[in-house]
Amino acid sequence: MTHYEKTKYQLKGEIKDICCRDEYCRITIEAPAICHVAKPGQFVMVKTSEEKSNDPLFRRPFSIHQVTGGLLIILFKIVGRGTSNLAKMKAGELLDVIGPLGKGFHVANEQRHYLVGGGMGIAPLHFLAETISRYNQESEIVALLGARTAKELDVFSQLNSLNYLQVALSTDDGTAGHHGLVIDLLERAVSERGPGVVYCCGPWPMMKAIALYCRDKKMTCQVSLETVMACGVGACLGCAVSGSDVIGDGYLHVCKDGPVFEAEKIWL
Ligand SMILES: Cc1cc2nc3c(=O)[nH]c(=O)nc-3n(C[C@H](O)[C@H](O)[C@H](O)COP(=O)(O)OP(=O)(O)OC[C@H]3O[C@@H](n4cnc5c(N)ncnc54)[C@H](O)[C@@H]3O)c2cc1C
Ligand code: FES
Repeated sequence: MTHYEKTKYQLKGEIKDICCRDEYCRITIEAPAICHVAKPGQFVMVKTSEEKSNDPLFRRPFSIHQVTGGLLIILFKIVGRGTSNLAKMKAGELLDVIGPLGKGFHVANEQRHYLVGGGMGIAPLHFLAETISRYNQESEIVALLGARTAKELDVFSQLNSLNYLQVALSTDDGTAGHHGLVIDLLERAVSERGPGVVYCCGPWPMMKAIALYCRDKKMTCQVSLETVMACGVGACLGCAVSGSDVIGDGYLHVCKDGPVFEAEKIWL
């Protein structure tokens, strides 16, 4: 195990379990050093090339879905070479992982928390919900989860079993929950329950719409951005996005400054 800084590790973790259904996979890796310091919203960079191959050359970023004891759980969708390789791995094999990386969610000291996720952007919300509930057992935690179709939500079904979490679903095609967008769920929840702090992760247009809605309602909103990443540690500058602040060069690096940002740092 390589010890980079006090908060970052590179290790070869044994795969304890891997299970894929259609193109969605759940992988459990023994990684106690990473689990010990991980915060919700942080991510890991995973070497997805086979043992003696460099293809793909760059590691792939994945959100930390859950930590349980020394076990790190990632949920991923097979979209290309890296994720296809990962899906072929077997329990007992070793996986090269660096993490935890980036800045995660700031758990606000508020009574009501809205966790808004779209598609695979739902992945970091499990760890976040657990953390909020641990900090404040009295807080109201509401998860609003959107996807194109019901099948995309199956991989997150464990969220329904968290007794401290109230879950509402939306799908674009109406196959589960509300037939429409996840922002409709947020608007409804805020009008019924009242304002709260919003944590959001999903496709960019969805996050922008949620961020602007929160701005209008004067609700705090944090967004977790996804970009292509080569290094994951601030060295290649490949993950730059333009922020709303024109001071300096105006760019933010998602891997180092984020992936979680206060929404107004991205959209004013
Ligand atoms: C901070 C962060 C956290 C992430 N967390 C997760 C996670 O928890 N679970 C997860 O499944 N993914 C997550 N991703 C996305 C994940 O990193 C990519 O899906 C992965 O790198 C794709 O690698 P690949 O080699 O399989 O695909 P590539 O060969 O790199 O790409 C294949 C094709 O898929 C497209 N593609 C790439 N990424 C995506 C994507 N996210 N969705 C749809 N199409 C894509 C590419 O444009 C290309 O056309 C995260 C990304 C970031 C930056
Ligand atoms: S991925 Fe290299 S600087 Fe962010």
